[in-house]
Amino acid sequence: MNGGPSDPLSLDQAGASDEQLQRVHAILLREKPEPTEGYSPLPLLLLGLMSAFILFSAIYLGRYSGGFDPMVYDERIPPGMLVDNAAAPVAQDPKVLGQRIFTANCAACHQVTGLGLPGAFPPLAGSEWVAGPDERIIRIVLSGLSGPVTVKGSPFNLAMPSLGPSLKDEQLAAVLTYIRSEWGNNAPAVSPDKVKEIRAAVAGHPGPWAPEELLKIP
Ligand code: HEC
Repeated sequence: MNGGPSDPLSLDQAGASDEQLQRVHAILLREKPEPTEGYSPLPLLLLGLMSAFILFSAIYLGRYSGGFDPMVYDERIPPGMLVDNAAAPVAQDPKVLGQRIFTANCAACHQVTGLGLPGAFPPLAGSEWVAGPDERIIRIVLSGLSGPVTVKGSPFNLAMPSLGPSLKDEQLAAVLTYIRSEWGNNAPAVSPDKVKEIRAAVAGHPGPWAPEELLKIP
């Protein structure tokens, strides 16, 4: 406004008349109020919207985060339901279940490649044991195996622990089906019913099997 006709200072200096001053004031009063210091309050509507959004987000996370459990692959499944889900054979693709169980229970020794470790852990890839009768490998995972054994022409002599107590019939069937179809292996699937049947039949067997004991099974 400097130097303009409505600038009070320049009007004063110019010796403005009362009439002119009144006109100038009328113009000034029409102008917006001077900005004030401090904060103006947040509009209530915006505050309400933001609160509603935060509330919604909190409820959404509580409902769909799966408890931020790394094992939850479907965020709509609450963590508490995971165990039931894994136990229900219909709800789980056996191939996926088998791979998961293999990684968690077998890969430390037999390796994810299924190649084992020469001189220590025998290979499952291309193994005649894996391709052989399911009556034998079910017994191996149920009770373990120890004693001299030959796999793909190489001798091994360590002990494999029993996994029967820690894995259910469906889980053992899934992992055996997995090792029979992975790494180029191509042997028929193992059914949970078969595992159940053999588990009942060998219930009284003390300790791990000796390989020659299993080779007698046709
Ligand atoms: C602690 C190490 C270890 C773990 C874990 C383990 N194994 Fe074994 N496994 C062995 C050893 C050692 C042998 C050979 C035992 C012997 O020398 O008599 C063997 C032998 C076998 C055999 C017969 C030989 C062959 O290579 O085909 C199969 C089949 C087998 N294991 C499957 C499994 C499956 C399936 C799992 C997981 C559910 C598993 N093993 C977990 C160490 C292990």
